[in-house]
Amino acid sequence: MRNKTDDGLSALWPYPQWVAHRCGGKLAPENTLAGFDACVRHGYRMVEFDAKLSSDNQTFLLHDDTLDRTTNGRGDAAKQTWAHLAVLDAGSWFDRRFAGEHLPTLADAAARCERDGLAANIEIKPCPGRDALTGELVAAVALSLWRSQTPLLSSFSFDALAAARAAAPHLPRGMLFDEVPGDWRRIVGELQCVSLHADHRHLTQPLIDEIHAAGLRVLAYTVNDPVRARQLVQWGVDMICTDRLDLIGANALS
Ligand code: G3P
Ligand code: MG
Repeated sequence: MRNKTDDGLSALWPYPQWVAHRCGGKLAPENTLAGFDACVRHGYRMVEFDAKLSSDNQTFLLHDDTLDRTTNGRGDAAKQTWAHLAVLDAGSWFDRRFAGEHLPTLADAAARCERDGLAANIEIKPCPGRDALTGELVAAVALSLWRSQTPLLSSFSFDALAAARAAAPHLPRGMLFDEVPGDWRRIVGELQCVSLHADHRHLTQPLIDEIHAAGLRVLAYTVNDPVRARQLVQWGVDMICTDRLDLIGANALS
């Protein structure tokens, strides 16, 4: 059972209200260490990023299944060894100022979180067919390398979160949904989640109240309009994930 506070919500929630999406939102190439710099520069204390496996099971940061959009590589990321992935340019697609930026390993991300005092929301983003192994290995690395602040694991994949739970039962978990399905209580119950993460466009005040009444926290993604962010805060959303670190969050909206 989770530890409950007086208001009925889980006590396992030491996280700030604002989290930088894909490391630095729209201010740096996504899922790179340059994004961590943008996060710190804008006063953010928590970073969200996407983690998956190379063909030889290195845990590293990348959003898409393929390399084409955010690196100078081509094809499926899951078919490449880490030796191949490690030398790709993951910055030039965004801006030539970031040429030479590399895909970070999960260990690189852990080191930056420790160095800069950042909390982490590690989104387990398996390539097709690799859900359970990705959940298991990402959770194992998170358990061994994060020291100061406990990372929050999340995923759209039930199987990945179930494997993460088996590998690191005490690391907190959040189930990710696009639109929250009718059977969300069963899903978060089976996975013993502390939080539910949803596309903000599908969140309403009554739904947020229902999720809170079930003892879970709510993360809304990806909120890039300050007016909408303010409304979600008024509705009681616990964490807002944004690309617009320059418009929303620690230094811009309170
Ligand atoms: O974890 C929130 C958000 O990152 C989920 O969507 O596609 O940006 O990983 P996506
Ligand atoms: Mg993500």
